[in-house]
Order: sequence, then C-alpha cells, then structure tokens
Amino acid sequence: MNEKLHSSTTNIDEKRQGEVFSSAKSGAGNGKRKYYLETYGCQMNFSDSEIVASILNKEGYESVSDYKEAEMIFVNTCAIRENAEQTVRNRLNELRSIKKKKPNAIIGLLGCMAERLKHKLLEEEKLIDIVIGPDAYRELPNLITQVDGGQAAINVLLSREETYADISPVRLDTNGVTAFISIMRGCDNMCSFCVVPFTRGRERSRDMHSIIKEARELFNNGYREVTLLGQNVDSYKWKDKKTGQLVTFTYLLEQVAKVSPLLRIRFSTSHPKDMVDEVLHTIAKYDNICNYIHLPVQSGSSVILKRMNRTYDRNWYKERIESIKRIIPGCGISTDTISGFCGETQEDHNETLSMMNWVEYDMAYMFKYSERPGTLAQKKYKDDIPEAVKSERLNEIISLQLEHSYKRNQMDINKVHRVLVEGVSKRSENELYGRNDQNKVVIFPREKYSSGDYVNIMVNRCTSATLFGKVVA
Ligand code: SAH
Ligand code: SF4
Ligand code: F3S
Repeated sequence: MNEKLHSSTTNIDEKRQGEVFSSAKSGAGNGKRKYYLETYGCQMNFSDSEIVASILNKEGYESVSDYKEAEMIFVNTCAIRENAEQTVRNRLNELRSIKKKKPNAIIGLLGCMAERLKHKLLEEEKLIDIVIGPDAYRELPNLITQVDGGQAAINVLLSREETYADISPVRLDTNGVTAFISIMRGCDNMCSFCVVPFTRGRERSRDMHSIIKEARELFNNGYREVTLLGQNVDSYKWKDKKTGQLVTFTYLLEQVAKVSPLLRIRFSTSHPKDMVDEVLHTIAKYDNICNYIHLPVQSGSSVILKRMNRTYDRNWYKERIESIKRIIPGCGISTDTISGFCGETQEDHNETLSMMNWVEYDMAYMFKYSERPGTLAQKKYKDDIPEAVKSERLNEIISLQLEHSYKRNQMDINKVHRVLVEGVSKRSENELYGRNDQNKVVIFPREKYSSGDYVNIMVNRCTSATLFGKVVA
C-alpha cells in the first residue's frame, strides 16, 4: 500500500484522495457474521477504517477480503472533490448486484460523503441501509441492529469531543513497519474551497498519553515508523487535566520521538499559518523525526490565497520555506496546489508557477478546483474558470513539478541514504523498497535484508518518482 501511495511523484488529481486504500482482511469459516470494509480518500479516512474495524471485530463480526463473501459491505467515503464522490457512486452501482443476489446483505456508507449528504443518500441510493458520519462510529453496531429490525439507519451527528482515543485500531493492509496515528480530528480553518470542516466538524485534539501509548505499542509490535495525522497538526492543543499542562504539537512530537530512536516519526499536514520555528528546531534536534514537511501552498498568488481564506500570503509562505531550509538543511518539502480557483487569472497562475520555481518542491499533489456544495467559495464566488483552462493550467503545473522532482532526485545521486525497508518491490522479487528520511521511495537489491531493517543505500540513478541504489556497509 505504501509503495503505491508514496511512489508517485506527480500524483495527478484523484490519486491520493480518491484511491481505494484497503479492505479489511482475515480468515473465515467460524460462523461469525462477515463484513467487508473498503476505504476511499485520505490517510485520515484510512486511519478511521482501522477504528471501525476494531469496533466491528469487538462486536464479534469478522472481516473478509472478498466482498462477494460478505453479509455486510461498508464503504468509507471521501467528498473532497466531485470525482471522489463519483468514484463512490460508481462503486455503489457495482454493489447493486450483491443486493440482488443477497437481499439481506447490508450496505453501509461511512465517512465524509455520508456526512455531507446525510438523508439524501438514503433517498438517492436505494440500496443503502446505513449512513454514518466520521464521529458516530461507536454507534455502528446499534445501526446494524436497527437494520436487522427492518429499518434503514442513519447517524451523522458530529461531536466536539470524540477522538476515539481509547480504541486500539486494527491495522489494515499493513506492511508491519509503518502505521498512522490520528492525533486530532476535524478542522476549524474554513478554507473557502474545502468541504472538510463540514464533513469532519470542529477541531479537537486527542489525549497525548493515548498517542504515546499507541506509538509505544506499535514499536513493541515491530513497527518502525509512525505518521501523526491531523488536518492541521501544528494547531494540536491538548490540556492535561491532571497536571494542567497545555501540550503543543512541538511537545507531542518530542514525546513521540523519545519512544525509541529506532522509531521514525512523520506527520501530516502542516499549515503555513501555524507552522512555527519551534517545531522546526525539534525536527532538527531529533534524528528520528524525519526531515520532510508537507506544506500545501494551494496557490502562489496572494489575491487567490485571500479568496481561498488561507490566512497567509505569498510572502508569509516564502518566509516559512526559508525557515525550513535554514533550520533543517536538506529537508524534503512537498505541496498541494489547486488550479483554476474562482477568478484565477493567467497572472495568478503564473505566480503559482513562479512559487514552484522558487521552492523547487520534491513532490506535489496537484488538483483542479472542484466546487463543493455548501462551502464558502460556492456561496460567495463564481466557479468561472472553464474546464479546459483548469486542465491546461494543471498540466503546466504537473510538467513543471516533474522537472523539479527529477532535478531534486538527481541531487540525491552519489549520496548515502538511510532507508527504512517497507517490503518487496512490486517491480521485482529480488528488490526491496523503502523510503529515505525525505520520504522518497528507494529501490535496491534484496540481499539479506527484510522489512523493518534500516539500510544505508548509495543512490546511483533516479527517475522523477524513485531513487535506485545499492547497499553500502
Ligand atoms: N488539511 C490539509 C488538506 C486537506 S484536503 C491542508 O490544509 O493542507 C487535501 C488537499 O485537497 C488540499 O490541500 C487541497 O489542495 C485539495 N482540495 C481541497 N478541496 C478541494 C477542492 N474543492 N477542489 C480541489 N482540490 C481541493
Ligand atoms: Fe480544508 Fe483548509 Fe482545513 Fe485543510 S486546513 S482541511 S484545506 S479547511
Ligand atoms: Fe476526503 Fe474526508 Fe479525507 S473529504 S480527503 S476523506 S477528510
């Protein structure tokens, strides 16, 4: 899964947020009621599915890897762009045949699209039995019981407190080496293009102790890398009621880093308005906190950034990048961009290109603007950039990023990189893949190494997406 997720340097439009991440897996045959769970969307949704699987398993249900064997099918959905929702609609059409063959099968829609469309989904998609939002997963067993009683069931209540802190996630599709830890939920930022504040509710941070406990358990179970997840990790804020201490992201990062020097720490996503130098100094101080920051710019134009309600401008963003480069030399930097936002002129677009030229990102996720119902932008601005222009600008951004990725990767040649092995390469049984500190995929001959090992690799060639090399002693 991770190779798929990370190997693509130029992740075009839906690949990240629209990808099917996983299905829950395990054996079958002991008479338990079987469920199949598949996930679309971001890492946070993936992490949520691990919570859902934990809740269902505790209830005595059993996961299966083939949906045709299941009596209950759950689809964890994404609403970030229109085509993310279209992917789910197409999938529902495929699931219709299951319902024909097994009229008692339960079909449940989870996640952001469920939260966005609520009852409408039950009306529009007659085959759905359950609609459940991201804060209501503890109620899923009750909703199943309700459906067994002959009623469609819905719970889309958002919460100000729910963080699922006490639930031990079941690791899905795991490579046994890398795992996600959700540290906060929701978002208070209200970027004008974004549906997330409506689908995931208010921002809240998870109990620090439960995060450290989860990291420690993962390490003890052989995991060697954790990625701390939140929409805006820099605004992590949690009050320890026992000591009265107010815990910041910097402090949390430090505590997780102390679990073991052999446990790598990554995090996502950083927000330019909140990323402070203190965090950068902490990254620089600990070897096991990876030198990699995903700092979405969205646009290089201050006019567009204002309309997007990103609350920073071009100069502010550049200053943050300068700080990263000064405090963490050699830090990997990636971004997200949106092409064709409301009113974007050719000059605005050129400013995005010039920002890319100035930063020279290692990697980028690049999107076309997709208007989302109910967002600030939909209410206030006209989605006035023709589709053809959006595509043209996106393509220009993608080509430029390809050049930069290739250039940045070439700079890694003839250098030794510490790589954490994640598995056998898809290209060949005789090769392994892992990532370096800067989050770049590295492929090298298998020799005697295996998943979870740290290996020093001398890189000798690259593409724009991948580094290739040999083990050095
Ligand atoms: N919290 C993160 C991003 C979450 S969504 C942040 O603030 O950076 C991931 C990415 O999807 C965003 O960074 C943005 O580039 C893209 N995105 C969000 N809404 C979009 C929309 N309506 N159209 C196109 N891209 C969008
Ligand atoms: Fe959406 Fe902005 Fe929140 Fe990111 S920070 S999730 S883009 S509202
Ligand atoms: Fe999609 Fe929801 Fe994530 S809208 S990107 S699954 S937070």
